[in-house]
Amino acid sequence: MLQPAQRTNRFQESMIREMTRLALQHNAINLSQGYPDYDPPPAVLEAAVAALHAGANQYTVTWGYPPLRTRLAELYAARLGWDVQPDRHIAVTCGVSEAICASLLAVLDPGDEVLLLEPAHENFRPAVLFAGAEPVAVSLDRPHYRLDGDRLRAAVTPRTRALILNTPHNPTGRVFAGEELTAIVDVVTQHDLVLITDEIYDHILYDGRRHLSPGSLEPLRERTITIGGLGKTYAVTGWRLGYAIVPDPLAGAVRAVHDFLTICAPTPLQAAAVAALSLPDSYEAELLAAYHKRRDLMVSLLAGLGFGVDRPEGAYYVMAAYGDLPLPQAQWSAVDFARWLTTAVGVAVVPGGHFYGDHGQGEGVVRFAFCKRIETLQAAAQRLREGFDRANT
Ligand SMILES: Cc1ncc(COP(=O)(O)O)c(C=O)c1O
Repeated sequence: MLQPAQRTNRFQESMIREMTRLALQHNAINLSQGYPDYDPPPAVLEAAVAALHAGANQYTVTWGYPPLRTRLAELYAARLGWDVQPDRHIAVTCGVSEAICASLLAVLDPGDEVLLLEPAHENFRPAVLFAGAEPVAVSLDRPHYRLDGDRLRAAVTPRTRALILNTPHNPTGRVFAGEELTAIVDVVTQHDLVLITDEIYDHILYDGRRHLSPGSLEPLRERTITIGGLGKTYAVTGWRLGYAIVPDPLAGAVRAVHDFLTICAPTPLQAAAVAALSLPDSYEAELLAAYHKRRDLMVSLLAGLGFGVDRPEGAYYVMAAYGDLPLPQAQWSAVDFARWLTTAVGVAVVPGGHFYGDHGQGEGVVRFAFCKRIETLQAAAQRLREGFDRANT
């Protein structure tokens, strides 16, 4: 009998995408997978259509459509404080997911260890395994999910090669700051690590917080691969556009891996990305105002129903503890509870365990994504209220 490669035994298909399929099957409101149900800005759509008609339909330069790299170099030189060159330090990829994989494949040797802060975005662990390396989890304690510097230091071994940091953070909504960043700087510099930052939510921060790219901190500039993407900020998750900004010693390797992984990201959509990255500042102000409304609604709705929630500081997810809900189902496992919410209540969520290598650590918690129209969130609230009433009769 043919057997798949052993590396595939160490992960399963994504639970988030599975919950989306279950949501479609049961006509549930999908608050599991993090994609918007509202349209991208019209100027960005028009730019994509114009690019399709203007002949931008073939492979572009493997590292990215030149005007896009020029724009990214401008933005990131200002943000990171070093001379980001469009032909040298940038690889435009098929989503942040590819940028993470390309960076890990370019940096890791088999047997290396990579520190992950858990709970973590589901893709990180398999991406480390693809490179033949070992994920090492550093857990963030509930309910506030703060990074404990001593715990981070204790996880380092002579084989540790890299740390993946996602801020603003999926799934907790944390924005790492202050002593947490100091601990990261210490560990990365003292142990000669590569820092790989996933900053896909860099434009969604709440309560006046400003995004700080860790790679802009002086001691980290030479050793940080800064990754960002277009999907979340411009509501184009299906366009598959991300990028890595890579300092000199590693830049050539990341560009070469990307070249052989996917050749290039979709050309016409890269052309439209230039328009997205050139929108006036008012776009960001409107985005932020809309996300504050969504966050506040989601948090008050969940708290009102009896879930235990911490206010997200950034991104568009909230981890919700369900153990104290006045429902028989509150004692169920996170997987059973999420399936019940999806199939019987009509609101799809993700069980907390799927953000941990050891699924048991996420028991009692589910993740809600609130990147949806206010009407969608209100409809979900209505279903939750009615579903909980039914469960008690
Ligand atoms: C932290 C994080 N990184 C990466 C991704 C995926 O990014 P992309 O769609 O650009 O591959 C997601 C999607 O939810 C995410 O939450």
